[in-house]
Amino acid sequence: MREIKSIILAAGKGTRMKSETPKVLHKIFEKPLLGYVLDNVKNIVNESFIIVGHHAEEVTEFVNRNYNAAKTVLQTPQLGTGHAVSMVCPSLNKFEGQVIILCGDTPLITEKTLRDFIEYHNSQNSDITVMSTIFENPTNYGRIVRVNNNSLKCIVEEKDATDEQKKIKEVNAGIYCLNWAKIKDAFSQLTSNNAQGEYYLTDIIAWGKQKNLNVNAFILNNSDEIYGINSRKNLAEATRIINKRKLDELMDSGVTIVDPSSTWISEDTQIGTDSIIYPSTYIEGKNSIGCNCKIGPCAHLRGDVEVGCNCKIGNFVEIKKAKIADNTNVGHLSYIGDAELGSNINIGAGTITANYNPLSKVKSKTILKDNVKIGSNSVLVAPVTIDEGANVGALSVITKDIPSWSLALTRSPIKILNDWVKKALK
Ligand code: UD1
Ligand code: CA
Repeated sequence: MREIKSIILAAGKGTRMKSETPKVLHKIFEKPLLGYVLDNVKNIVNESFIIVGHHAEEVTEFVNRNYNAAKTVLQTPQLGTGHAVSMVCPSLNKFEGQVIILCGDTPLITEKTLRDFIEYHNSQNSDITVMSTIFENPTNYGRIVRVNNNSLKCIVEEKDATDEQKKIKEVNAGIYCLNWAKIKDAFSQLTSNNAQGEYYLTDIIAWGKQKNLNVNAFILNNSDEIYGINSRKNLAEATRIINKRKLDELMDSGVTIVDPSSTWISEDTQIGTDSIIYPSTYIEGKNSIGCNCKIGPCAHLRGDVEVGCNCKIGNFVEIKKAKIADNTNVGHLSYIGDAELGSNINIGAGTITANYNPLSKVKSKTILKDNVKIGSNSVLVAPVTIDEGANVGALSVITKDIPSWSLALTRSPIKILNDWVKKALK
């Protein structure tokens, strides 16, 4: 097998987002756009270079924290996508394998498509392969220009295109596969005489044709996958597409989604068969939910949540960083965070795990062993453990550990004043 490396472009400013946050760190279900791209290449390539520039420190920190096999390379100033790739040339001077180039703002591409793309490149004995697709509304994308015999000629950017070229519906996805040793010289030969005064990566197509290299386009049928994020509207649309993909996958695998139009579930959430997700539920981050569970309506799972089988997470329940074992119910209006709940537990309505001390900024854990029952409107002040089978009476504030099979009560005893109302009205 030939070695494959990737270069991911992520140095641009993302002007159209109108944001202080670098574009590639804008999130879909709490995962930055760049994270989607890196997750999709990590099983394909042996090394990734990420070109950073605008807000380089923040992007570098995200990469270093989450993807230690990837390297960031600084591009400053940012003179265009071709200039961005040239930043890696010194590191790949002697490299003989293939390089795939992707954009950090194109999060919908899948690992399967990338594998098909590389396979196509190999099967055509191609030197340069660009991914393209057909868009009914191709505005803003680079157009693929072909000559009469249908072979590629060049890519022309929207801002440089003639009216005739603007009618072309085949667009550049911004994803390329290159036989590096043959193409690397292009990057020192690109020029910037175009409408934006930038060094365009897209010019390698015309460069390759001039050098009589084998240049091809891989036309992708599912054009959703190359949807690029340039604006907040694009971000919302990409979120919708990722969500729809996930809901379809879950329904195909035996999960009921009562109302797909109001349900949001992150890519990184696994759900077992015969579970039912009720309307207006929002599930972000990494989670796993077992079989036969009922989630929602209006439940919010915020990540690092593991739910066993036959559980109920009811309406207006928020859960974050918690493990919940089989047959446990958190039915209504509760917050469960930094917690471990055993099996056969019932959590009464309005129960709160008070996990955060805002003065020390420390989060602590709440542990409930099997068969515990918590009365409604109780506050469990962490760190705290409630041992097996213990009961907590309604409206309790639990500030110390409760022994197994005991009852804990903290409310004041009820007082009844007979005929008090009648006397008051006299
Ligand atoms: C680019 C392509 C266009 C294609 C589209 C697909 C070029 C010239 N145009 O246009 O043909 O249809 O992607 O989505 O390549 N970046 C850098 N350094 C720079 C400039 C950009 O790293 O100096 C990065 C950006 O952060 C971004 C990516 O490159 O992740 C693409 O840049 P962007 O400005 O979004 O290009 P488009 O106009 O979308
Ligand atoms: Ca773009």
